[in-house]
Amino acid sequence: MNSSRFVVDQNHLEQCETQTLPTIEAADLSEGEVLLKVDSAAFTANNITYAALGKRFKYWDFFPAEAPWGQIPVWGFADVSASRHPEISVGSRVYGYLPMASQLLVLPGRVSQSSFVDTSAHRTHLALAYNQYVFTATDPAYQPQYEALQMLLRPLLLTSFLLDDFLAENAFFSADQIILTSASSKTALGLAFMLQHQRSQRGQPLTITALTSSSNCAFVESLGYYDKVVSYDAIDSLDANQLSVSVDFAGNGQVLADIHQHFADNLRFSSLVGAAHWDQRGGDKQLPGPAAEVFFAPGYWETRGKELGNAELMQRFARLWAPLVGSVAKWMKVNEVRGEQAIAKAYLDTLKGNISPEQGTIMRF
Ligand SMILES: NC(=O)c1ccc[n+]([C@@H]2O[C@H](COP(=O)([O-])OP(=O)(O)OC[C@H]3O[C@@H](n4cnc5c(N)ncnc54)[C@H](OP(=O)(O)O)[C@@H]3O)[C@@H](O)[C@H]2O)c1
Repeated sequence: MNSSRFVVDQNHLEQCETQTLPTIEAADLSEGEVLLKVDSAAFTANNITYAALGKRFKYWDFFPAEAPWGQIPVWGFADVSASRHPEISVGSRVYGYLPMASQLLVLPGRVSQSSFVDTSAHRTHLALAYNQYVFTATDPAYQPQYEALQMLLRPLLLTSFLLDDFLAENAFFSADQIILTSASSKTALGLAFMLQHQRSQRGQPLTITALTSSSNCAFVESLGYYDKVVSYDAIDSLDANQLSVSVDFAGNGQVLADIHQHFADNLRFSSLVGAAHWDQRGGDKQLPGPAAEVFFAPGYWETRGKELGNAELMQRFARLWAPLVGSVAKWMKVNEVRGEQAIAKAYLDTLKGNISPEQGTIMRF
């Protein structure tokens, strides 16, 4: 039996292939190692961003492949198929960061009832949030019937939650309006929902404004998460006197320049979160208004975790997760793909932005 992995050319993301490798057998494991059989994972623009920014943010380092190939990390579920670790038994199911491959060999450390960390040498310099695997059997938030929503939403909505917390901690930079680009993305929708959900208790009459492609305006409007929905070519129609904060999920150089030029000093803060428009990055670095600041969710989690404790942070997230997932479940259409060709097609469609925002892609390996 062979195992397989899906790889992309790190320098030409449209080049991809499935590679066949010898299967790792139980007898191949060294003391302390565990073999995971990858079951399923979500695939969204977030994964394309991992690839597009792979060199700068070290995303290629998680699951190395021979140059020029790279394995894109995905969030999903895997089962322990062989174990030489005394505390981890065969059959355990875990949730975490995985390669687009049928197998993953890990070296568990910091093993507890709830999780372990892969301490493999090539991963020690990477953020803890990405190296941790959670056992589904002891995860209080795990519900087997909602695995797809967990894979699709948990990593993204955690970021939405951390952004919401960051904005609230900064008193929304005294702005009257929060503008979200790639407003149709799941991470942006999550943030918009959270801002709206807590608006009355926070007592701040913030306007939540969506910037999106004209083809996605109707979908975004239909959800009712935003107060205003504007297409990228109509930024001029926004009131330039309104004190505003930009939260940028698109990473599109032209769109960001348009926002900065339109609001100038009335832009109170500019946050760079994503690069959904991964092939339209770049642009003028000397923009009017505040210098844009990168928001890295795992880094902010570590900072807030030290201040509040991880348990308190998770409880706060859980309070928003439940109503948000209830809402998303009403409109999201989960699309499962399996097999070499279907996975390559789903990858290329996501790369080209040919996936409808209401769709959630799950890949089975
Ligand atoms: N900084 C962090 O820690 C962090 C954490 C989580 C997510 N993020 C980032 O947030 C962004 C959104 O991720 P997601 O997974 O939530 O996205 P998603 O749900 O897959 O978003 C789909 C939307 O992104 C835009 N898009 C995607 N591919 C495109 C393409 N090739 N060309 C043009 N537009 C494209 C379109 O929105 P519009 O038409 O509305 O532009 C599309 O409707 C990603 O860049 C992700 O990396 C960052």
